[in-house]
Amino acid sequence: MQVTVVPASPKTGQATIRTLLADPSNPTVKGYYRDLSKVPAEFTSNPRFEAVKGDVEDAGSLDFSGSDTVLNITPPLYEEKDIIAHARLVSENVKAAVKKAASVKRLVLLSSVGAQYDHGTGEIRTNHEAEAILKDAAAEVVFVRCAYFMENWAMSLDTILREGFFYTTLTPLDHALPMIAVQDIGSTCAAELLGAGNTALPSNPHIFELHGPRAYTSVDVQQAFEEVMGKSIEMRPIEKAGLDEFYAAVFPPMVAKEFAAMNASYLEGGILYEDPQPTVREKGTTELLDVVRQMLLGA
Ligand SMILES: NC(=O)c1ccc[n+]([C@@H]2O[C@H](COP(=O)([O-])OP(=O)(O)OC[C@H]3O[C@@H](n4cnc5c(N)ncnc54)[C@H](OP(=O)(O)O)[C@@H]3O)[C@@H](O)[C@H]2O)c1
Repeated sequence: MQVTVVPASPKTGQATIRTLLADPSNPTVKGYYRDLSKVPAEFTSNPRFEAVKGDVEDAGSLDFSGSDTVLNITPPLYEEKDIIAHARLVSENVKAAVKKAASVKRLVLLSSVGAQYDHGTGEIRTNHEAEAILKDAAAEVVFVRCAYFMENWAMSLDTILREGFFYTTLTPLDHALPMIAVQDIGSTCAAELLGAGNTALPSNPHIFELHGPRAYTSVDVQQAFEEVMGKSIEMRPIEKAGLDEFYAAVFPPMVAKEFAAMNASYLEGGILYEDPQPTVREKGTTELLDVVRQMLLGA
């Protein structure tokens, strides 16, 4: 089987490729990079992996012919641009390339919890747009709606290591949020890709949420850092009313607004807090403590 991962450089793409290359069915993998200098050595040394230069913003650079199945990730945009228009453009480009390649039986889209909503979710609306465009791109379509990535807490490492504290926008501090490890996203996406043409989908598109073994609070995050580091770590909560200001300090204005809205969507009063149209769920096995340990060992 030949699998294409587009783009291949996001951490979720890397985790999927790692699982695919270790699979006993020995699939071959093509990974699209806009910058070939970013291909990890662990992949280039594998004869079943091929890095291809291509950019999802440029339809002409995508050729999936020969591939049985494609994993698509909507790349996050941190520039001062219309992120919805960008999500539409890259999804249309991928859809056209999938339609052109007669060999492609299945498209798997890495999506997000909340992608069923067209409002109230901020940046997650990019995933909503991608789903709307790609829902009939191939004979078989799978949307993996991922929960909050445990690896997002890597953004806290800098202040933790230098000053022994971290900011948390997950409030109140005992509010539990579903989280998922990137490693579990990789193995789930790999399994969905390898089922192309063999495993009948329960529905088409097949849509499910991917959560970790349990939901975690900010206090759980603090305790995980404390356990791995063997010392006290201070938490500095950013309340809901302070989200706009918090994100405006790190992102350009349009991007900051979308991230603040996304963050608010899963706090009390937000659409994902109640989740009026819930999606069926699958669970990964990796615990937050294991992800925090890996993050700190690699820091
Ligand atoms: N973070 C969360 O909690 C969460 C939860 C649910 C779903 N999601 C979804 O997960 C996806 C993000 O995945 P991730 O965290 O794995 O991403 P990531 O690690 O932040 O990586 C983003 C990558 O996108 C690549 N990229 C950007 N523009 C590109 C383009 N035009 N063509 C090709 N590559 C491009 C960049 O590649 P370069 O190396 O070339 O710069 C970069 O490596 C998004 O769709 C997001 O909505 C995230």
